Amino acid sequence: MVKDLSKPEAPQELLAELEKEHIDADVLVNNAGYDIYGNFSETNLHEELEMLQVNITSLTCLTKLFLMKMLKSNSGKILNVSSMVAFIPVPKSSLYAASKSFVLSFSEALATELRGTGITITCLCPGVVQTKFYERGNFPPQSKAAKMRKMDAAKVAKSGFNALKKGKTFVAPGLTNAIFGFSPRLSRSVARYMFSKVMGE
Ligand SMILES: NC(=O)c1ccc[n+]([C@@H]2O[C@H](COP(=O)([O-])OP(=O)(O)OC[C@H]3O[C@@H](n4cnc5c(N)ncnc54)[C@H](OP(=O)(O)O)[C@@H]3O)[C@@H](O)[C@H]2O)c1
Repeated sequence: MVKDLSKPEAPQELLAELEKEHIDADVLVNNAGYDIYGNFSETNLHEELEMLQVNITSLTCLTKLFLMKMLKSNSGKILNVSSMVAFIPVPKSSLYAASKSFVLSFSEALATELRGTGITITCLCPGVVQTKFYERGNFPPQSKAAKMRKMDAAKVAKSGFNALKKGKTFVAPGLTNAIFGFSPRLSRSVARYMFSKVMGE
């Protein structure tokens, strides 16, 4: 089943097609996502809104739709792909980085809400990975980002898969990313714990 996730109706259509085929998905991987390189003052708004639809809105809709089904059997696993840029504002990737901050924040908060159920949510935050990402995002080939040494995509996927199986909330593959993410993660975990108390009834 192929869907263009920049179209608002796509998540609901996907679920309807799965139901028609009597397929019950107990794992959801929200991997689709991309960047559009450039200064915000120069990039195309229509294209950016489509990107936000894929990176944020479709991911949110799919999570909601599949979660509702998973709650009926009280089991299921969701993997949301964010990025290490979730922790930092990134010029020339301002909307993309902000969209990945959304994915991380949403996933971590949801993981806390789902504690005690049979459903887990895992957020994968890769660093720089060897895929079509940089070509697709129109990164100039001579840019430092495009030329950086990249992690092997299969290793990143395996790391995400292992974390998903274990029901871990967060995974940043690679030593550098784990070190880079440690300090912000620590403060986020404390804040998440505090706010789970503040927001409780
Ligand atoms: N590469 C990196 O350095 C890096 C770092 C951190 C996070 N990430 C994240 O990793 C995820 C996978 O990206 P990638 O690195 O594997 O890049 P990629 O090779 O460009 O793959 C992008 C994926 O998103 C899908 N996609 C894009 N637009 C879509 C749309 N409108 N509807 C449905 N699917 C769509 C693509 O499907 P089709 O191929 O069928 O179009 C493809 O599976 C993304 O969320 C990205 O933000 C990548």
